[in-house]
Amino acid sequence: MARALPQGLVCLLDHEQHAQTQLPEAVWAYFNGGAAEEVTLRANAKAWQRLELLPRVLRPLAGGHTRVQLLGRTLAHPIMVAPMAHQGLAHPHGERATALAAAALGAGLVFSTQASVRLEDVARTYLPDADRGPLWFQLYAQPDRSFTRELVQRAASAGYEALVLTIDAPVQGVRDRERRAGFHTSAGVSAVNLVGMIPPTPKPLEPGQSALFDGLLKHAPTWDDVAWLRSITHLPVLLKGITHPDDAVQAVRCGAAGVIVSNHGGRTLDTVPATARLLPRVVQAVQGDVPVLVDGGIRRGTDVLKAVALGASAVLVGRPILHGLTNAGATGVAHVLRLLRDELEIAMALTGCRTLADAQQTLA
Ligand code: FNR
Ligand code: LAC
Repeated sequence: MARALPQGLVCLLDHEQHAQTQLPEAVWAYFNGGAAEEVTLRANAKAWQRLELLPRVLRPLAGGHTRVQLLGRTLAHPIMVAPMAHQGLAHPHGERATALAAAALGAGLVFSTQASVRLEDVARTYLPDADRGPLWFQLYAQPDRSFTRELVQRAASAGYEALVLTIDAPVQGVRDRERRAGFHTSAGVSAVNLVGMIPPTPKPLEPGQSALFDGLLKHAPTWDDVAWLRSITHLPVLLKGITHPDDAVQAVRCGAAGVIVSNHGGRTLDTVPATARLLPRVVQAVQGDVPVLVDGGIRRGTDVLKAVALGASAVLVGRPILHGLTNAGATGVAHVLRLLRDELEIAMALTGCRTLADAQQTLA
């Protein structure tokens, strides 16, 4: 189902506004909502906006480029697609359309455990493109370790090049907007890669026990699981959802190949600081030992430049990808990525930055 790109969309915000008119209210609440009062959700975008740029002029800019190094390879630019569940709700081609667009635009792709298409299908779509970026598998550790191991093995055999263990969501956040709208995944959209995973049978609770602490959280991953994960795979493991500098240091100690500063786009714990504020402390804590990536509220090329200026090796973009996907499938996602990259180049040119190695000096 090819949907033509609607006229007049010139920035990511235009894509957002248009997508809202295309989706059922409950799906919109799931995609665009956050936790509780959505303080963190709003803070993420605002914090990038608040950082000011101070241009340098008359510098030679010819031959400039957006290339960066990440985990031993050169990327055309530092923009990656964040892992997001249930993309089939945005477009019938779901994650396959996202993969097609990301590969063509040289954007790295992080594929969610809770995707609505098979991980092998996305690998087959993404990997053959000569211009592609890195393909990573986002892992939600499952209660059954042997199932998790099989999932990891499947991802490795399919050609995924790193694992991204998400660590900030042992339980879902308090998603008021989503619950008010009565969100549920619809027929035909489900976490197909988790088929066969048998959820543990809940034991009857003793008086005074908590369904959360004595139930769900008994299976939540801990630092031991990071070590276990490293022991069962040769793939590099990145940790997504680091906010505290000490956790970043512990991640490095545990052998993480990289950390992703993220508050899950304000979807888990509300009132966590914006990632633009958290990033510099984490960068300082890891002292260049591993790459630091960041996501949350990246909506402009200037936001990407600021993230790199604060020490990020790359950024992940979440909701705008879903907006593009909703508006025009693969074409829409490609358009979103193209706009962001073009804006990044313009921001670099206007700040006097020939390469991203000069980014640091652009902050006022
Ligand atoms: C997410 N995110 C997410 N993260 C993850 O590790 N696994 C997942 O399955 C999902 N699923 C998911 C669904 C939807 C609808 C959204 C919006 C987000 C979080 C995502 O990877 C990322 O951290 C944030 O979306 C980044 O913030 P922005 O760019 O959306 O502001
Ligand atoms: C979310 C989960 C899937 O944010 O990570 O919706």
